[in-house]
Parts: sequence; structure tokens; C-alpha cells
Amino acid sequence: MEQNGDGKPKKPIIFDGMAMPPFPPLVKDAKERFEEIRDMPCREDDVLLVIYPKSGTHWVWEIVCMLLKKKAEYMKETKEFFFLEAIPDMSVVHNLASPRPLNTHVPYRWLPKQHIENGGKIVHVLRNPKDVAVSMFHHLNNTGEFGEPLDFKTFYEKIFMGPVQAFGGWFSYEKEFEEAEAKDTRSAIFTMHYESLKKNPILETKKLAKFLNVDVNDELIAEIVDKCSFKKLKEATDTMKDIIKTPANPEKVKGEGNAKEIMSKLYRKGEIGDWKNHFTVALNEHFDAVYNEEMKDFKIKVQYE
Ligand code: A3P
Repeated sequence: MEQNGDGKPKKPIIFDGMAMPPFPPLVKDAKERFEEIRDMPCREDDVLLVIYPKSGTHWVWEIVCMLLKKKAEYMKETKEFFFLEAIPDMSVVHNLASPRPLNTHVPYRWLPKQHIENGGKIVHVLRNPKDVAVSMFHHLNNTGEFGEPLDFKTFYEKIFMGPVQAFGGWFSYEKEFEEAEAKDTRSAIFTMHYESLKKNPILETKKLAKFLNVDVNDELIAEIVDKCSFKKLKEATDTMKDIIKTPANPEKVKGEGNAKEIMSKLYRKGEIGDWKNHFTVALNEHFDAVYNEEMKDFKIKVQYE
């Protein structure tokens, strides 16, 4: 979210084969922050949202928070306040009340060891990678990450499918997750599909509530689904969220306008299938060929529409 406005591309942070946004703790020492995350003390009732960027993290985080509180009330904070790789100091999460709705984009191998040992709950959202690419493309253009605006084809070839990809890349991230799920004998991982949540929000939110062991009635589920619809969540973010204090980047935000604008643009379209407006036939064929090769030994089924 850095806004240097000088038209120069920002240098991503590279660690363990992953490119990451220039969040201050990662700029300072990415290895140190990753180790802090892996070694952090956990509580048995922590809920960890572990989601590849641009797959619906903000949306599902808000739903999880409402379910845990059993109230269809927006959090005053944005999810960035609970964002492990971006909070300025890990003591922020150490001081939070339970149950903590923590969130991260780090791949499975870097998750807090104690949370895994505890059998702590992990909510994972899977979104089809073509829409993830489109969403990331707009997000990085909006945050000035490329300096000058980049076209989709260049983004696709050099960044999304480039040599060092965001958080190791969609394929690596999701394959690692599938392998972890296969070993998850305690059913600690719950994977939701962005597209299923979009098509059947009531049913999927009920399943999520069941996974979280929260006893909520149908009326509350319907209220949560309504409050977390794209339009209403965007509106709430624009009007009542505490954005200026986002600890992900406090010193980088030059003014409330900037931070608010970026956060508002994050709620861009919220649809399934915008990839059809961005992928040319050639790019689409290229992606499908890579997908078929990469995923040939994996069971994941993504929903492109
Ligand atoms: P688009 O850019 O395709 O619109 P993340 O929170 O992981 O960064 O993901 C952002 C994506 O989730 C954006 O996708 C955003 O619009 C979408 N999103 C956010 N809230 C949503 C909601 N309530 N319903 C559907 N999509 C939502």
C-alpha cells in the first residue's frame, strides 16, 4: 500500500522463493517476521485465516468475525489489524482478546507451529486462479506497485507467472495446502470456495459456522450474509472502518484519503469470471496448459464460472 507516487516500480521483498509486498516488517527483515509467525505462541481457540492474496480474505474475515461474536456487526478495524506479516509488532496480536481472528497469506509451511500442534482451526479460501490474477493485477496497479500502470499481458507473464511469484505463486500455495489437508486427521482445515460462497452464501456460511462450532440461528446467518454482501461491505469499509490506523503501513499512509481510497478499491467487482474480460485466447490457452501440467497429480477443482 506504499504510495510513493514517483512513477517508479516498488521493489518487492523476496524471501524463501516468494515475492511479497513491501510491508514494513518484511522490508525490515522478512526472515525475522516469518520466524516470529512460525514460532508465535497460540491459543487453542485461535482461528487462522490462511488465504492466497486476492481470494476473498477481507470478505471471509468479516464473516468469521461476525460468527465468532454471534452478532451481525462490522468490526471497527479492518482485517489488517490482525494480519500477521504486516502488523508493526507481534505484541499487537499477543494482546488481543480471545478468540483471535488472525489472518495471513504465508504458505502452510510457515504457519504457527503451535497452532498446527493444537489442531487449531484454519479457514482457507480457494478462488479460481484466473480471477485471482485479474484481482491482483488491479490491486497492484491501484497501489502503484508497478510505478507506471502495467498492461494485463505483461503482468501475467512477468509477475503472476514470473520467476518469483507472490507468496510463491498460486500453484505452489494451493498444492501445499492440498497436501496439508490430506494429512489433516483432526479436520482442523476448512476450505471454502470463493465461488460457492458467492453462489450459495447461506449454505456456505452455515457450513463455516458449523466448522467454527458456533451455534447460530438461520436469522443471524441471513443477517451476516446480507451485511457481508459485496455492496454492503464496501459501503461499511468506506464509511465506518478505522482505516487510517491500519498498522500494516502506518507511516506510509500520507493521508486518510489515500488509505481509504486504496481500501475502497480493494472492493473492486466481487464477481466470478472477470478473467474473461482480461485473458486473451492465447493467454487462456497458455494458462490452461500450465494448470493441467501443474495440477495433474492434485484433486483441487476450481470454479471458473
Ligand atoms: P475483485 O478484485 O475480483 O473484485 P482479498 O480480500 O483476499 O484481497 O480479495 C479481494 C477480492 O475479494 C476482490 O476481488 C474483492 O472485490 C473481493 N471481495 C471482497 N469482498 C467481497 C464480497 N463481499 N463478495 C464478493 N467478493 C468480495
